[in-house]
Amino acid sequence: MSPSFAPPHLDLTFMAPLSEERAARLVRFVADGRPGTVLDIGCGWAALLLRVLTAVPEAIGEGVDLDEVAIAHGRELADAAGLTDRVDLRVDDARDLAGGWDALICIGASQVWGAPVEDAQPLPYSAALTALRGLVNRGGRLLYGDGIWSRPPTPEAVAPLAGRDDEFLSLGEVAALAVEAGFAPIGVHEASIDEWDVFEGGYAAAYARWLAAHEPDDPEAAEVRAIAEGQRAAYFGGYRGILGLGYLELLAV
Ligand SMILES: C[S@@+](CC[C@H](N)C(=O)[O-])C[C@H]1O[C@@H](n2cnc3c(N)ncnc32)[C@H](O)[C@@H]1O
Repeated sequence: MSPSFAPPHLDLTFMAPLSEERAARLVRFVADGRPGTVLDIGCGWAALLLRVLTAVPEAIGEGVDLDEVAIAHGRELADAAGLTDRVDLRVDDARDLAGGWDALICIGASQVWGAPVEDAQPLPYSAALTALRGLVNRGGRLLYGDGIWSRPPTPEAVAPLAGRDDEFLSLGEVAALAVEAGFAPIGVHEASIDEWDVFEGGYAAAYARWLAAHEPDDPEAAEVRAIAEGQRAAYFGGYRGILGLGYLELLAV
């Protein structure tokens, strides 16, 4: 059996490198389109979707994710925000969705339209952006977030990821693919190092919580220490400042 860790929502506000300031900007982008319907694909605990619904009182929302724990937490957040009657958060495979939305949010979930992450393939940006264009009405808005190379990858950066230089593209290349798929970019920006440090710290926190809650000679303790050490080495000795997260604010044209 592998050790079981505390869910990331205990230590992270968003399951992405995303500050409150940038989140407010992204929410404003979606809300400014005054959408009637908003769909969040791979929503996790739907932190952004719930903020959009708070900002647009006439909107209704749906969020789908395969992660039952994240969806359960999202429902608690929706309840606390008084949004239960305007949002449907459910465990579902996003591949089965059909079109007709005013606004879409898809952050860190393009693998929905490609090979599983374990297959270590290049990110399916084009397939994702084409599928997303099919789900959103013309004139509607897509908030798209995805992995990018912030700088040319080094061997140390790619080794703990998919082990290949072509796993990600640059921010500009992803923006060009969005145009090809039928979008016009309004805002194109990327997570800062500070946002990444907070995000990676959220994962480190889960390992730290485990180690604090178990005796040092627990049968699983050595494995947990190795996982924590591996994450630190992968990030600080590898992809920090090289793996990025691009945020694209897109209009469907
Ligand atoms: C990196 S997380 C991002 C979560 C969320 N968008 C956020 O920014 O906080 C990617 C999410 O996509 C979900 N996911 C992956 N494949 C999926 C699929 N086929 N259908 C629905 N969700 C999926 C995962 O469960 C995971 O929660």
